[in-house]
Amino acid sequence: MKIGIIGAMSVEVDALVSHLDGVNKRTVSGIDFYEGKLYGRDAVVARCGIGKVFAAICAQTMILSFGVTHIINTGVAGTLTDRLDLLDVAIANGVVQHDMDTSPIGDPVGLISGINKVVLPTSEKMGMIAEQAARELGFNAVRGIVASGDQFISCAERKDFIVKNFSAVCCEMEGASIGHVCYVNGVECLIVRAISDSATGEAKMEYPELVGKAATRSQRMIEKIFALL
Ligand code: ADE
Repeated sequence: MKIGIIGAMSVEVDALVSHLDGVNKRTVSGIDFYEGKLYGRDAVVARCGIGKVFAAICAQTMILSFGVTHIINTGVAGTLTDRLDLLDVAIANGVVQHDMDTSPIGDPVGLISGINKVVLPTSEKMGMIAEQAARELGFNAVRGIVASGDQFISCAERKDFIVKNFSAVCCEMEGASIGHVCYVNGVECLIVRAISDSATGEAKMEYPELVGKAATRSQRMIEKIFALL
């Protein structure tokens, strides 16, 4: 087992990078990959940058150049459900790309052509371990669909669109692209996100205040998940 961990921003992975033992840095396609032992397991950690394309480049590189068998995406997200409050934890049981839309030519919104699915599944086993980790840490966690798109969601209209079409529990900008890459490569995938904002107009105030705290919570989840694997 070799585990790749991807976060979009430094605040989402720096604590994990600082815990790597015997670290070796390699840069591929402009992304720095830090390889070593994390909490006693073979791992590679990277900050991919924001958005679906950077996340896909990072995940595919981890698979082809670093030989990971599992990928975990850690970070922050906006909530799409009243079951997830600020700083609570979302764990994916599937992912959707809410900005994928070929509906004008008759497809369901979100359909990934070629694969012919809207929702791509994530690892059931790793999702259950993550739920156990949240319980042991005393975090309120909800398992559900994680919606990704190249947009920061901060208005009720777009939030409602995502909820109505996909029944997703949180929104962010990378998880579904990592899930997509893992799906086509047969690699186990887990998305863990702590809630930094309400994905409404309030997000402008909430996000800057909570992003650090939420990112830390998600990284604490990773440490606990590693102990339970
Ligand atoms: N990441 C954290 N909050 C988000 C939001 N509201 N929309 C997209 N990505 C996010």
